[in-house]
Amino acid sequence: MFQQEIFMGKKGFIFDLDGVIVDTAKYHYLAWKKLANDIGISFSESQNEHLKGVSRIRSLEKILDWGGVRLNQEDFNELMAKKNEDYLRYIKTMNENEILPDVKKILNYLTQKGQAIALGSASKNARSILSMVSLKDEFDAIIDGNDVTKAKPDPEVFLKAASAINIKPERCIVFEDSLAGIQAANTANMVSIGIGDKDTLKEAEYVFKDFTEMDIDFIEFLIER
Ligand code: BG6
Ligand code: MG
Repeated sequence: MFQQEIFMGKKGFIFDLDGVIVDTAKYHYLAWKKLANDIGISFSESQNEHLKGVSRIRSLEKILDWGGVRLNQEDFNELMAKKNEDYLRYIKTMNENEILPDVKKILNYLTQKGQAIALGSASKNARSILSMVSLKDEFDAIIDGNDVTKAKPDPEVFLKAASAINIKPERCIVFEDSLAGIQAANTANMVSIGIGDKDTLKEAEYVFKDFTEMDIDFIEFLIER
């Protein structure tokens, strides 16, 4: 198998979802901000950076910690459900227009080049979102928040994605917009590519503001390197 991968030059390209493929990061932010403010906790964009890539449950734990608020299990669960309801309301009308610029161009190129493509997302809504934007069929494997027990920065989600597409971790490339995700990719021994702010994502091997900054030569370089 390994010999064959080298011969075919096949690599594994693993995409995060929120903030990489679709512009949902802003809706997660709005839903968390509303929840925090409703219970008297202030919530800034810089705090939100620490929630990107982080599971729903862990995100709420962090917000409550920041605000010094303790809740019983029942209230905690109620707030988690409320956050998801708000979030789903924000994305209700989502369609292909919400796919971030040049994502389709990169996916099409990788498919045309016979590369393996996987999704590695913390979101439990990932499959329905991919369906809403008609991208589900572009992926050879989808690993999401329903498939993992450990949240990024734990590498579990990416290791499972690599295993699902049958590519060794060191032959995988991860596209991520969150610091936790970049750390997860680095721990998994994968090439980490940050999509977003250079300072926030400085632990990534490469950083691009978005996919429009990434030309096909770079993708070709990733396939060959
Ligand atoms: C990640 C987002 O992709 O998924 C986080 O960056 C979010 O903001 C997490 O909390 C879990 O998503 P969901 O859809 O299961 O609440
Ligand atoms: Mg993300």
